[in-house]
Amino acid sequence: MSQRTLVILKPDAVARGLIGEIIGRIERKAGWTITAIELRTLDRDTLQTHYAEHVGRPFYAPLLDFMSAAPSVVLVVEGERVIEGLRTLAGPTDPIAAAPGSIRGDFGTIVRENLIHASDSEESAERELKIFFPGLV
Ligand code: PPS
Repeated sequence: MSQRTLVILKPDAVARGLIGEIIGRIERKAGWTITAIELRTLDRDTLQTHYAEHVGRPFYAPLLDFMSAAPSVVLVVEGERVIEGLRTLAGPTDPIAAAPGSIRGDFGTIVRENLIHASDSEESAERELKIFFPGLV
């Protein structure tokens, strides 16, 4: 089942020089293709739309500050079961709970700076792709 998903390499991943490492892992998965990619400093309006379901959570304001403070890399990735696959590649939200071998497990320690966002369902992917790549058909 071919799908497409939105991936964000968060500002900590970019600042730490991990773009190549993370993209390499995505590219090495058989049949997955990066179909759009851009270095972009995310504005607060976009982030408020993206993280709307988390308004009111204690981490919401610091998350927006962190995500808007420096450039991210936003990508569209397409391929077989790519939504579930990228969530597995990323690992769980808390990097300390993430298994070695996953991106968060290998490179992260604190929750806010967990390196990567990947859409969590087909519905989220379609919604998020429209936010970050409105021209996508
Ligand atoms: S939930 O409860 O399952 O909806 O939340 P979760 O998917 O784990 O997290 C939602 C997004 O918020 C980020 N997050 C945090 N950021 C900063 N500090 C803390 N404590 C924190 N907890 C969760 C988490 O990384 C998710 O962002 P994305 O961009 O999807 O990774």
